[in-house]
Amino acid sequence: MFSKIIATGSYLPSNILTNQDLEKKVDTTDEWIRSRTGIERRSIADPQQTTSDLGYEAAKKAIDRSGIDKHEIDLIIVGTCTPDVPTPNVGAIIQEKIGLKDFPAFSIEAACSGFVYAMNLANKFILSGDSKCALVIGAETLSRITDWEDRNTCVLFADGAGAAILKPSEDPGIIYSKLGANGAYSDLLYVPYGTSKRPLKEQRNDNFLQMKGNEVFKVAVKTLESIAKDSLKEVNMTSEDIDWFIPHQANIRIIQAVSKRLNIPEKKVIISLTDHGNTSAASIPLALDQSIREGKIKTGDTVLLQSFGAGFTWGTVIIKI
Ligand code: ACO
Repeated sequence: MFSKIIATGSYLPSNILTNQDLEKKVDTTDEWIRSRTGIERRSIADPQQTTSDLGYEAAKKAIDRSGIDKHEIDLIIVGTCTPDVPTPNVGAIIQEKIGLKDFPAFSIEAACSGFVYAMNLANKFILSGDSKCALVIGAETLSRITDWEDRNTCVLFADGAGAAILKPSEDPGIIYSKLGANGAYSDLLYVPYGTSKRPLKEQRNDNFLQMKGNEVFKVAVKTLESIAKDSLKEVNMTSEDIDWFIPHQANIRIIQAVSKRLNIPEKKVIISLTDHGNTSAASIPLALDQSIREGKIKTGDTVLLQSFGAGFTWGTVIIKI
């Protein structure tokens, strides 16, 4: 028995922020952003839109495309580091928005690895028989924790959501998945305060995402290379068996460095950060849905999903579509 994706969906807010727009806000240039990150534009949520709104829109598209009755869904897991509120969790909020109830719905915070973590968990629910139809979402409003005066970070982060519906299947679907984390690196990428560390009522306007980008870059490349190699070895596969590689969309130079080390040719690597920016947990499901819509990824293809994010957290999913 396997967990198989039966449909995907994604949603991007309509407000587009280009590199040229950013040139007017901070001391940067389109040329610097494109050459150092690969990003050209990104979507930013309207002030009234929350992470659950974005996740709900992506989920609705996946449900419509799947042809299922929404009441078949018996599990919702959302990867996000920008929940609407500390509680209730984003999974429960989206469950209510879809018009469902009475089954597990929760979110997990593993930063950019949120979707891969959620897929791994949903797979376990399905393989144990506890879920017959799981809705897995990655959704973020990173614009809310971005310092729009800090050129080191504001050119990178963006908003969006992606979703996938998983069902049990005798045909291969998820054939491998592994997660990891190392909290020793927590000072390289973090938000300084939250509900527990500094009570909300005391929070001031200094609570934005902080990043030592250069150091993150180095650990990301090393970790992504080694976990991909380990994963392929564990399933007796080589990079030649992979039809498509969807890494977390943080920086084109990280993606190129990792693909090169893995001997995965450029034509097999999905790049969506050009138009999406870094949408953290939403980046992989957004790229997956976009590639399916564009007719790149087809039924029967083997896809390697790979994440790396704050924590640090990381994860791999190898899946047959
Ligand atoms: N415009 C112009 N100059 C800039 C900008 C900008 N937007 N940002 C930084 N610079 C300058 C710096 O000030 C520095 O100038 P200096 O040499 O005079 O000090 C110079 O550019 C080089 O800075 P670096 O930080 O060394 O640049 P780097 O090549 O490392 O690129 C970047 C920075 C894009 C942030 C890169 O390090 C990166 O992508 N890091 C990894 C990000 C990542 O993977 N995050 C993990 C996932 S995100 C999550 O979990 C939420």
